[in-house]
Amino acid sequence: MKSDLVIVYHRQPYEEVEHEDGTVELVENKSPNGIVPTLKGFLGRAEHASWVAWKYADDPVNPQFERTVEISDTYGDYSVTRLPLTRNQVASFYHISSKEAFWPILHGFKERYNYDPVDWPTFREVNWAFAEAAAEEASDEAVIWVHDYNLWLVPAYIRRLKPNAKIAFFHHTPFPAPDMFNVLPWREEIIRSLLECDAVGFHIPRYARNFLACCRSQTSARTAEERATEPALVKKDSTALSERVTPVSIEFKGRKVLVDVNPVGVNYDYITELSQRDEVQEKVAEIKESLGDCKLVVSISRTDYTKGNIEQLETFERFLRDRPEWRGRVRLMLVSVASNRNMAAYEEIQNRIEELTGRINGTFGNFEWQPVSLMSTAIPLEDLVAYYRAADVCSITPLADGLNLVCSEYCVAQSEEQPGVLILSEFAGAAVLLDGAIPVNPFSHRSMDRALEQALSMGPTERAERMKKLKASAGRFTNANWTDKELELFEALRNGASEIE
Ligand code: UDP
Ligand code: G6P
Repeated sequence: MKSDLVIVYHRQPYEEVEHEDGTVELVENKSPNGIVPTLKGFLGRAEHASWVAWKYADDPVNPQFERTVEISDTYGDYSVTRLPLTRNQVASFYHISSKEAFWPILHGFKERYNYDPVDWPTFREVNWAFAEAAAEEASDEAVIWVHDYNLWLVPAYIRRLKPNAKIAFFHHTPFPAPDMFNVLPWREEIIRSLLECDAVGFHIPRYARNFLACCRSQTSARTAEERATEPALVKKDSTALSERVTPVSIEFKGRKVLVDVNPVGVNYDYITELSQRDEVQEKVAEIKESLGDCKLVVSISRTDYTKGNIEQLETFERFLRDRPEWRGRVRLMLVSVASNRNMAAYEEIQNRIEELTGRINGTFGNFEWQPVSLMSTAIPLEDLVAYYRAADVCSITPLADGLNLVCSEYCVAQSEEQPGVLILSEFAGAAVLLDGAIPVNPFSHRSMDRALEQALSMGPTERAERMKKLKASAGRFTNANWTDKELELFEALRNGASEIE
């Protein structure tokens, strides 16, 4: 059966656990990646939806390989097409091109950009396979919804295979300004592919503005002669993107491309409901009892040099060194989930985190008090909520982050009686949406040190005032709002919103 919504994302919507007897069980995806659970909510919102992802296959032409599986779960009935990729293809397309070349540039880490090992033909070949599968799954009215930089070339290939397809793209990472993005030698091919979409979405206006600037920088880089023979990019609506006004339309090759801003939010109602459950309250009481008179600071993220896990530990170490009166009175729970094992850059960060944790605990801790508790495996949201609620401070200090959901989840989980304090990096996309956090510049020791001190010393009235604002702003950007706006966009695309009048 053809689908009217085809989600194209590199990870599968579930995890496969292979048992000793050879049977395979599908379980909820435990990956601490905000995208998968958010997208799953769309599976029940279409007549028939499908998802295209990749799966390891030692022998990609093995007839036993189950390419398409039909799934019925709490999200609905949908099919998942798995593209069989060899370990070499995954290493090249995902670990090298995506994580070693694109990821550092998207997040502004030029010094980590590793260009030489990129095998562009393999990146193209894998993106082509995604496009073919998506085009095959899609009905004539379908919206094909492609996600993230790993699949940058998919829109151009779909347009070739299915010229009238409705293609939407959502970019979950930051989109950098031209002086950073244009470091990528494949910049023009990438921009031209994204311009084959009917709509390209971002979390915040700054990323959309950067994308528009990159589009302009690419087209103006060509000679006048080249521009005359190819339809150039024309910005149709000259209204500058204000902080909240979207979408903006641009024309490319005689088609309209909507550049939209719609920040994904958290599941507000579910987190509120969870945080009020009896079992969660009991767990909160247990955590508080185990803390005694100590305050609790939590910091939760994937292990990544962009996330500021190391800066977090260094700040805590300086704090205990310079403020001895806090020794024995505060604990840091650092959840740093290793999601990309077997990659040198991530192993190095993980080792550094473990080393720093050991050093802090060894230097300042004693039998009764361990300053840092490090957890490296994902904690289910149902348990995380209890830590959110028990924590006096949540410190989210990425050096760059597309949005960040944890900071909003923390706010939504807070009680009115004893709310905690949020420290939030100004380099997380969420910083432009949330009102009431202590802003921090993670590149500055002074800023990090001051923020921690201020958070731990804040009185109840200021805490309550700030948390009220934070909750209200998190409530304006919920997952439900995001879903409604995206579905509205799909409807508009099906009704021809991208055709030029
Ligand atoms: N998360 C989780 N368990 C953990 C750590 C994180 O379930 O131990 C979830 C967290 O609740 C959030 C998501 O993973 O919903 C992380 O999303 P975020 O946008 O903060 O970061 P990302 O990893 O997507 O960049
Ligand atoms: C976050 C970001 C994505 C990024 C992902 C890592 O959710 O928003 O843009 O790709 O983390 O996912 P990965 O599949 O590479 O572990």
